[in-house]
Amino acid sequence: FNSSQKTKNLTGKTVLITAGPTYEAIDPVRFIGNHSSGKMGFSIAQEAANRGAKVILISGPSSQQIHHQNIEIHRVTSAKEMYEQVFNYYENVDIAIASAAVADYAPKEIAKEKIKKNDDSLTIELVKNPDILKTMGDKKDKQFLVGFALETQNEEENAKGKLQKKNLDMIVLNSLREEGAGFKNDTNKIKIFTKTEMKEFTLKSKDEVATDILNCIEEQILK
Ligand code: CTP
Ligand code: CA
Repeated sequence: FNSSQKTKNLTGKTVLITAGPTYEAIDPVRFIGNHSSGKMGFSIAQEAANRGAKVILISGPSSQQIHHQNIEIHRVTSAKEMYEQVFNYYENVDIAIASAAVADYAPKEIAKEKIKKNDDSLTIELVKNPDILKTMGDKKDKQFLVGFALETQNEEENAKGKLQKKNLDMIVLNSLREEGAGFKNDTNKIKIFTKTEMKEFTLKSKDEVATDILNCIEEQILK
C-alpha cells in the first residue's frame, strides 16, 4: 500500500455496510447473540458518508445511532433478515463492507411459547445460517468487496483463506490478541490483506481504523 495517496473522495460511489451482531430467536423471549457493539461498522459508515459516498447501512441490534444525509439505515434482527436486506441493494453498489458479526448458527425451530424449565438438561438444535459475505462473493460483478476476520489462532492464514474462499478484494483482520482490541472496546488493532499486499496498523480508535480502511479501499479502487 502507498499510504501517501489519500484522496478522501467517494463522491458518486454507493457503499453497502453490514454492522452489529445478529440475534437468532430461541423462543418469544430468548435468543442466541454475541457481544458485537456495531461501532466498527457505524464508524465506517460515518467516514464513507463524510467522503461523499451514498451509504446503505444494514445493522443488527445495536444501540449505536447515526444521522447523516448520505446514510440510509436499515435495522434487522436475524441473519436471514440481514441477508434479505443486503440482496435488496447489493447489485447496485460499488463497494460492500461486511463488518457484521453474523451468528453462524440459528435454532432449527423457534418455540412458539416461552420454554419452561421442566427438564434437567435442554438441547437446542442449531442449523447453519446463510453466509452473507460468501454469497456476495459468488455474485460479485463490479463491486469492491471487503470482509472482516476475527480469529484467535492462525490468524493470518485463516484471514487469507477467507479472502480467497469468499472471493474478496480485501480483508481486515481484527487482532483479538491485543489488549484493548475487539468487540466491546472503542479500539481495534488491524491488519489489512489484499491478494498481493499486507499492511499492519497500530492500536487505534475505531474512528481512526475506519479512516485507515477507507484509505486502503480508495487506493485500491483508484489503481
Ligand atoms: N459473514 C457473513 N455471514 C455469515 C458469517 C460471516 O457475512 N453468516 C461475514 C462477516 O461479516 C465477516 C466475514 O464473513 O466479514 C468473516 O466472518 P467470520 O466469523 O470471521 O468467519 P466465518 O466465515 O463465519 O468462519 P468462522 O466463524 O468459522 O471462522
Ligand atoms: Ca463466524
